[in-house]
Amino acid sequence: MAQYFDNVNLKSEMRKFDVKIFDCSFSFFSDNGVFCKEHLDFGTRLLLESIPWDEVHGNILDVGCGYGPIGIIASKFTNQAVTMCDINKRALHLAKMNAKENQVDAVIVESNCYENISGTFDTIITNPPIRAGKKIVYEILFGAKEYLLSEGQLFLVIHKDQGAKSLIKDLEKEYSVEVLKKNKGFFVIKCKIR
Ligand SMILES: C[S@@+](CC[C@H](N)C(=O)[O-])C[C@H]1O[C@@H](n2cnc3c(N)ncnc32)[C@H](O)[C@@H]1O
Repeated sequence: MAQYFDNVNLKSEMRKFDVKIFDCSFSFFSDNGVFCKEHLDFGTRLLLESIPWDEVHGNILDVGCGYGPIGIIASKFTNQAVTMCDINKRALHLAKMNAKENQVDAVIVESNCYENISGTFDTIITNPPIRAGKKIVYEILFGAKEYLLSEGQLFLVIHKDQGAKSLIKDLEKEYSVEVLKKNKGFFVIKCKIR
């Protein structure tokens, strides 16, 4: 199946859209070949609206950042340092533009899962790349344990049609799991290392 990161030969048609979340406004550039090129994805918005931001302290990692909405908005809401990574070069270029556009000082890294990530984080946030397949999704979600501090938290969003319920069962083998929100089939999930 074609992935949104197979975009080397895809014509660029960059566009810009505004996002309002709570009472904060952001502007994002997006493009062909990048996840959700026209607007903030519904699952991403739900994730960002469900995370208890007053409980998020310390540095943040956004895995599979795309054009950068999660990392940029998380950093703005918490005033914390953020690292964002993706495997898609075009997404990373946009994430850099968007960090500048929204005045966020982000570290942006090309990385297959955690391959080029070093250090540990208080918070990892992801809208995982379901289309990349279960192996990659599990690598991101279970690999997070190696990059989280002992009190760290992982937040993610997944739809029931993408296997949310069986994923929760698997996550419960490794983490303390809490479903923070369910809306239109999407589950926002918080995981803490046991
Ligand atoms: C569902 S999209 C989420 C994008 C963005 N965070 C958002 O919420 O709009 C998943 C992202 O994961 C990226 N991705 C796919 N496989 C990856 C991998 N092996 N390592 C890192 N990122 C990957 C995709 O390029 C895509 O940008």
